[in-house]
Amino acid sequence: MTLRISVIGTGYLGATHAACMAELGYEVIGLDVDASKLKALASGILPFHEPGLPELLRKHVASGRLRFTDSYADAAANADIHFITVGTPQRADSQSADMSYVDGSVDSLLEHITGQALIVGKSTVPVGTARRLTERIAAKALPGSEVTLAWNPEFLREGFAVKDTLTPDRLVYGLSDTDPESFGLRKIREVYAPILEHGTPEIVTDLETAELVKVAANAFLATKISFINAFAEVTETVGGDIKTLADAIGHDSRIGRRFLNAGVGFGGGCLPKDIRALQARVSELGLSHTMGFLAEVDQINLRRRDRVVSLASGMLGNELAGKHICVLGVTFKPDSDDVRDSPALDIAVRLYNAGADVSVYDPQGNKNAAGRFPRLHYVDSWQEAAQDTDIVLLLTEWQEFRDLDPVELGSVVSSRVLIDGRNVLDRPTWREAGWTITGPGEYFEVVNTAPGTAQLPLQVSNQA
Ligand code: UDX
Repeated sequence: MTLRISVIGTGYLGATHAACMAELGYEVIGLDVDASKLKALASGILPFHEPGLPELLRKHVASGRLRFTDSYADAAANADIHFITVGTPQRADSQSADMSYVDGSVDSLLEHITGQALIVGKSTVPVGTARRLTERIAAKALPGSEVTLAWNPEFLREGFAVKDTLTPDRLVYGLSDTDPESFGLRKIREVYAPILEHGTPEIVTDLETAELVKVAANAFLATKISFINAFAEVTETVGGDIKTLADAIGHDSRIGRRFLNAGVGFGGGCLPKDIRALQARVSELGLSHTMGFLAEVDQINLRRRDRVVSLASGMLGNELAGKHICVLGVTFKPDSDDVRDSPALDIAVRLYNAGADVSVYDPQGNKNAAGRFPRLHYVDSWQEAAQDTDIVLLLTEWQEFRDLDPVELGSVVSSRVLIDGRNVLDRPTWREAGWTITGPGEYFEVVNTAPGTAQLPLQVSNQA
């Protein structure tokens, strides 16, 4: 019999998971409380940008394998496996994760589950949550029902969500009972059988380990980025080539080259939030020093933004007020329209707040950025953004910007001055076309390029 699955919460993770479960051949119900989101999804429209996902969504809405509802009664009656994919945002009053959506969705399901069912948590949660929910299930499940909980963290990256879900690096599930014959393990293995078939590594573990795997992975990735960015601060001061340094240490297979790109730092809906929530959680556990290094990881990351702002100011003669600045890229990374905790948007806003006239172009992110900070001048092409500007800042490495022609860009700007915040442009080619160009990890003596001012070299400090 075809597996019947519900996915509770149709945000980024949930919409992807629901469409991918339908692709595996199951009958899937996506549940959300947001009526407008449901309406859009049911007509095959995604409320965010993710390559390949709209096609999959439309395919399975059309095939009838995927439908949407706002009713927990519907989900409980027509599915036996319920994935929880609701958000766990940072709380407004602290660094902790807000667990109200997770708790609320489990409670709502329990009100309607009458038979045997498996609830699978996928949201990123503080360690101990699954154990707490197990107790909640024992206390609240309807008489006669039999509800098992599993924790199955998700490692998908924006821009690669479909690929990461259908061909993940590994599958991890935590259960209180890991007996192969137990209902929970049998069911979750049945769900993932088409993926396991391809030899995907499977890790069966306890609930706490499964929760920790996710935050440990994200904390490690964030640390790796801040590690190289800390060395960028050193090479910015003494000289040296940060990319060569990363290549050289990356050849050591124990280190690896990925996630060693110095730049404007990490952002998005996961890494910044997750390292803060992890620190908050271990402090609650009485281990206030244990994850102390993550505070440093966060600080190094935020200093990247200071560096770009101070560099821009230095390159513009220590004056931002009244300057025309072109910002290319406002999302936290390419192939996404997400501007949550985006270093690019933060830098653009800081420049605006310092009195600059900031024109922004992003292939997908303008709308979301304008929703958060409407006062920047959002335009529909790099040509418009760069028109008559004093400096260009490349802050998100979209392919369109990697492919920029220095002569073409040079023909629209007032001044050929550029900060390559992601180190993606070939320095000799750009310098040959008359550009003053620098980027993260580069020692750069700022020569005052403002018209009519003395050409005085000055050292730009790393601090804002
Ligand atoms: C991340 C994790 O990779 C994923 O496993 C988890 O499920 C969710 O969080 P995502 O937020 O989509 O995924 O972005 P990711 O590709 O990891 O990049 C995070 C940030 O780090 C981006 O802002 C990116 O620009 C930055 N980054 C990445 C660097 O600055 N340097 C690098 O070398 C790599």
